Amino acid sequence: MTHTILVLNGPNLNMLGTREPATYGYETLADVADLCERTGASHDLQIEFRQTNHEGELIDWIHQSRGRCAGIVINPAAWTHTSVAIRDALSAAELPVIEVHLSNVHKREEFRHHSFVSAVAVGVICGMGTNGYRLALEHFAHLLKA
Ligand code: DQA
Repeated sequence: MTHTILVLNGPNLNMLGTREPATYGYETLADVADLCERTGASHDLQIEFRQTNHEGELIDWIHQSRGRCAGIVINPAAWTHTSVAIRDALSAAELPVIEVHLSNVHKREEFRHHSFVSAVAVGVICGMGTNGYRLALEHFAHLLKA
């Protein structure tokens, strides 16, 4: 059976590749989508890859995943540090969640050290660049096999 994993990206991640490359690297969001597709294909996972700059849209996608997807990989970007609404939506979806950040948020400004999402996540990957998405999907493949 092929499981579907929803890969969600929050605000400003559409600018990857040109946005602060010293922090986020030169790979684009299309490169990340391609990496997720390739990783999914090699583990029999169907990938739905999305990005939005609108919080309500992200929340709608999380709601729609309930009962339909096997898990969520999410880089909530700046909403990580601000959004109780996204945390509550993830709780309501009742799916395993892996939180991913390209940069090591703990090495950065104090306001990035707190995440509203981590408390409802299976685990958190940060500081490993785009490889973090691959690692998250491999972990889902491992969990779903078990
Ligand atoms: C980020 C880290 C956040 O603090 C920041 O607001 C982002 C990207 C990351 O992937 O490193 O937009 O989530």
